[in-house]
Amino acid sequence: MSKKMTAPAVRGRKVRSGADPLVMVTAYDAPGARIADEAGVDVILVGDSVAMVVLGYDDTLQVTVDDMARHTAAVARARPGALIVGDLPWMSYHVSVEETVRNAAALVRAGAQAVKLEGGRKRVPMIEAIVAAEMPVMGHIGLTPQSVHAMGGFKVQGRQHDAALALMEDAKALEHAGCFSIVLEGVPDEVARLVTDSVDVPTIGIGAGPHCDGQVLVFHDLLGIEDRIVPKFVRRYASVKADSVAAVRSFAEDVRTGRFPSSEESYHLSGEVAETLGLYGSAPGISA
Ligand code: KIV
Repeated sequence: MSKKMTAPAVRGRKVRSGADPLVMVTAYDAPGARIADEAGVDVILVGDSVAMVVLGYDDTLQVTVDDMARHTAAVARARPGALIVGDLPWMSYHVSVEETVRNAAALVRAGAQAVKLEGGRKRVPMIEAIVAAEMPVMGHIGLTPQSVHAMGGFKVQGRQHDAALALMEDAKALEHAGCFSIVLEGVPDEVARLVTDSVDVPTIGIGAGPHCDGQVLVFHDLLGIEDRIVPKFVRRYASVKADSVAAVRSFAEDVRTGRFPSSEESYHLSGEVAETLGLYGSAPGISA
């Protein structure tokens, strides 16, 4: 992507106004950011999903602001044209407004151009404070993984009448507080449509059906790097884990059978130096 994407440009991407759907993927390091950017995505989310797909934890609760800043900085070093959104981890925006603003600033100083946080109406004071400090905020409602214990597991949200209405109220509150876009995760597609219709900022869905203003998938899921659990909403566009296992297995076979490295893959002394060392013609691959 040549042109730099901005939060105000993302805010204008409402499909009902004729915009193309937004494309967001996660990335956690410079190679991932380069892949996402060369593929032309609009937004790179440095998600706290790094905890599960990179760091091997069972949930997202284990990562800190320092962890997220480190991964955000790695993504930023790739200088993508896509907007970089840094995910605020659990407990970084729950204690006080002051701490929240400082933690958001840490991600922006690491290279994020916006931050994301989970939760509805109860997050309004935090969102307003971050926005007042000139940092764009992406909201995230529905199945919010940082609430895994409160929700009793990673469960689809908004299935009942009142819960669906509550999600619409949450989305409106986030928009009013200044969010430039809202991730809608793990909700029935009918509810995602109602929420999307009820706000003027774009919604970006994951497990929320086709009626959102954009879609996001986790990099490791869409590439098939993470293949242990494949949620219903994931479409795999590659089998990188399986291809990588096959590639490393071939390397192991080549090493064990002496096929790697070849003479072409080795450095060689000049004939004169080899001769002074008494190696002339005496070792495989070393000859004048
Ligand atoms: O951390 C993450 O990857 C996310 C996406 C699932 C939206 O929050």
